[in-house]
Amino acid sequence: MTNETRSRRLVCLTGFMGSGKSTIGRLLAGQLGWPHADLDKRITESIGLTIPEIFARLGEPEFRRIEHEQLARIVGESIELQKPRIVSLGGGTMAQPQNVALLRESGASLVWLYCPIEELLRRCARITDRPLFRDEASFRQLYLERLPAYEQTEYSVDSNTEPLRVVEQILALAIFSKVTA
Ligand code: S3P
Repeated sequence: MTNETRSRRLVCLTGFMGSGKSTIGRLLAGQLGWPHADLDKRITESIGLTIPEIFARLGEPEFRRIEHEQLARIVGESIELQKPRIVSLGGGTMAQPQNVALLRESGASLVWLYCPIEELLRRCARITDRPLFRDEASFRQLYLERLPAYEQTEYSVDSNTEPLRVVEQILALAIFSKVTA
């Protein structure tokens, strides 16, 4: 299978914590009638612990190992089933070179949900289940460190708006004219 054919089957959403990857992925998949895979959900289901429990009990390196394993599984399933799929990645997935290599090799299309740091802070401050959201200063620092990873993606949309507007922007990207043609 060529990369172009593969890329028709896997569209991955990336972006920092709070950028809306899970919500937008679900809505987008619903509109397209495609299945949706949420990487964080796969991780928690695979070992029966929540994300904060995995960080606290097993540590971040083990979380990253499981994250890569589950991502490889999702990619493998998509290629095997030959079915298109929307994948919501975790906020740190693209910061791991082995994940970027896997996604590139699979020919996946990568879409960055861009959102300014002030809005991300506002969204994440209300939700307490993110082990890497410790305080504002470290959140800002991590955001800056992660930007180069997100900037590697070929597509980006503004996610500082209503979820349905974000979905519209994604559907207008060239990948979908190729995918659905
Ligand atoms: C992480 C982001 C989280 C989750 C884990 C690590 C990160 O996903 O994968 O807590 O490294 O930024 P969300 O971006 O969906 O919150």
